Amino acid sequence: MSQFDKIQTVKNNFAKSNPNYLKGMFGATDVMPLWIADMDFEIAKPIQEALQKLVTRNIYAYEFNTGEVFKSISDWNLKRHQLQLNPKSFVQVSGVLTGIGILIRELSKEGDGILVQTPVYHQFFKVIESSGRKVIHNKLKVDDGHYQMDFEDIERKLKTLNIKAILLCNPHNPIGRVWTKEELQKLVNLANLYDVTIISDEIHSDIVYSGSKFNSIVSLNNSEKHIAVLGSPAKTFGMQSISNGYLYISNQKTLKQVKHTIGSLYLDHGSIHSANATIAAYTKGEEWLNDLLIYLEKTMDWIEDFVKNELPEVTLFKPEGTYQIWLDFSKLNLSDAALKYLVVNQAKLALTPGDWFEGSHTQFMRMNVASPLSKIQQAFHQLKKAIDEGLDCSFNETESNTDCCSC
Ligand SMILES: Cc1ncc(COP(=O)(O)O)c(C=O)c1O
Repeated sequence: MSQFDKIQTVKNNFAKSNPNYLKGMFGATDVMPLWIADMDFEIAKPIQEALQKLVTRNIYAYEFNTGEVFKSISDWNLKRHQLQLNPKSFVQVSGVLTGIGILIRELSKEGDGILVQTPVYHQFFKVIESSGRKVIHNKLKVDDGHYQMDFEDIERKLKTLNIKAILLCNPHNPIGRVWTKEELQKLVNLANLYDVTIISDEIHSDIVYSGSKFNSIVSLNNSEKHIAVLGSPAKTFGMQSISNGYLYISNQKTLKQVKHTIGSLYLDHGSIHSANATIAAYTKGEEWLNDLLIYLEKTMDWIEDFVKNELPEVTLFKPEGTYQIWLDFSKLNLSDAALKYLVVNQAKLALTPGDWFEGSHTQFMRMNVASPLSKIQQAFHQLKKAIDEGLDCSFNETESNTDCCSC
């Protein structure tokens, strides 16, 4: 039995299973929560020990350790991604979204456009709009069942619209692409041509499966002006509630400017728990991560087989990275409301609705699969049962006149 097979029973108030959230978002509480992108797994032993060491001291005086944190991130990236980073070019922020919000404000002014590749992590819209900037949609294309960047559309928009930054997601949540070096270089070249900065959210960079390789934006040719937001170890080591975000800025002028802004707001004041947990993760967590990746890959293979053999009406976009899967239900020919009813009320699953990531994706859902395989298998069996039985007669289609069930 793998350590990741353990079903957790700890008492908690986690967002993903909080009944108030579930009721508000899905209208039901008796659902398996597979929506938020975090893990059901216990963190690696070295991180547990680092945190325990701190809490048993019972003294919480000011304590900082950012120098060691930046060194541990640099060493990790060199080892895992052959990425040479200068520990002096980091800035710590409380989280990735905070970092993105600050960068957007530093690199653009109100009314400017920020380009995003949709469907994309829904909080990108909020972080852009709440700073008074405009979201410019660049839709990803699906070619032969694979998501691709639409470079023609990017260039047309960079040429004609007032765009100051591209907010890249690599690996891409929710569709699971790990962008290739060639794709990224093309994007960098376009950004350079039109004098636009790429802000690359690389929070999922360590969750990459065999056959794919993560390339940071800062590893490409002529990428000096672009910025990587290294969010790890939140996603990598399951530390969402205790981790910080790290900006990596090669350009010295921008680095100085951003450091000044962050320092003036005292946003670089991270907690020692985050710092020491991060150091433990990056210096002693590699074996745990390797085991996790093997486990997740096995889960992905099981899902792929199950969908192919048992759920031919569902299209799976098998991810190259991240522990999210992107499912297309459009072949079921259900109205949007009927699909939601089938998944929530009949299959008893809380999946993230696709339209959170881009309005027209109402027939898509994202499932977080960083859970024990037995739980994921149960979720898929529930889904199959609901699809096989068909839409329940108790479903009441009030907003659309689709012929939704045969009773
Ligand atoms: C692409 C991406 N960026 C950022 C975040 C959130 O990062 P943070 O909690 O550090 O702000 C997530 C969380 O799911 C994510 O998927």
